[in-house]
Amino acid sequence: MPKSAPATPPADAKGLSYLASQLAAPVSNAEAALRPLSFADFAGQAKTVERLKIMVGAARTRGEALNHILLSGPPGLGKTTLSLILGAEMGRNVRITSGPVVEKASDLAGLLTSLEEGDLLFIDEIHRIPKTVEEYLYSAMEDFRLDIMIDQGPNARSVRLSLPRFTLVGATTRAGMLTAPLRSRFTLQTRLDYYDAATLTGIIQRSCGLLQVPIEDAGARELATRSRGTPRIANNLINFARDYAQQRGDGRITQKSAAAALELLEIDARGLDEMDKRILRVMAENYRGGPVGLGTVAMAVSELQRTPQGRVLTPKGYHAIGLKPLADPATQGTLL
Ligand SMILES: Nc1ncnc2c1ncn2[C@@H]1O[C@H](COP(=O)(O)OP(=O)(O)OP(=O)(O)O)[C@@H](O)[C@H]1O
Ligand SMILES: [Mg+2]
Repeated sequence: MPKSAPATPPADAKGLSYLASQLAAPVSNAEAALRPLSFADFAGQAKTVERLKIMVGAARTRGEALNHILLSGPPGLGKTTLSLILGAEMGRNVRITSGPVVEKASDLAGLLTSLEEGDLLFIDEIHRIPKTVEEYLYSAMEDFRLDIMIDQGPNARSVRLSLPRFTLVGATTRAGMLTAPLRSRFTLQTRLDYYDAATLTGIIQRSCGLLQVPIEDAGARELATRSRGTPRIANNLINFARDYAQQRGDGRITQKSAAAALELLEIDARGLDEMDKRILRVMAENYRGGPVGLGTVAMAVSELQRTPQGRVLTPKGYHAIGLKPLADPATQGTLL
């Protein structure tokens, strides 16, 4: 993955989610260990999986690269996981990058020319790719070529690079923000939905099996119903429920110990935590149910603070995205 640091995020609510997505990008070992590596291990998302299996089967039979695929849906539902599964099922490498990191056409050229025939390029948060770079993607995706300008002024000339037949797998949490020309270049556009409790229960049991954590069926169901339909949240809850069961019980996650653990985290029966409820309360009490902008809400629940230079994250804001606040707020922003 290219190291080029993303620009300082804009100091608005978009900046907050941008920051969160950037910081969430490096995958923890724990997350990687629980990642299903084949379609057989991947639970749920029946329609998407069936579509992908058909494309993989056909491409393999014809001995061709997979057509371009766009995966959309909320965070933590399995977009990155599916892209890695696609690579594994095709027996090809997956190169991973993310929209804001591909800052210039030359970044894109570097990525594309490093691919081998049939490889997959996964671009996470593809809706954040700069417009100038996006235009180069069109011919890369369609004709497997890249016309880039080198040099400037009188020496400027265009160079045509031919590219290996690659597969672009785009992921986005905001499918609506993709331009029509880019979207139309994906053969398959498929959306991931939240998981039902039964599927999540199975995912939790699988994760516990891999982590060698004993869990009763009722314990798995308890965690599943409070995971907001999201495998990543389910896997996170397992960690705390395991610690709790080890410290307060006999190490087994039961329905009772799972419920008590989540009680302690102040996650209610619907999976809403303290911050969620504060946000709902602010909207209900201060804004009569809305509409109200995200930035205003963030301010009201004091995750952001206004300063003369712009808005800055408060310590609570850092905690909300699972990070330690910076020691010296004066250097904040310059580190990114
Ligand atoms: N269908 C599934 N079966 C089992 N585990 C899953 C499934 N989908 C996701 N997971 C687990 O959830 C975690 C998060 O999934 P993943 O990273 O693929 O989500 P994502 O959609 O890419 O999220 P983001 O938008 O934040 O990048 C993975 O580590 C994986 O263990
Ligand atoms: Mg991802």
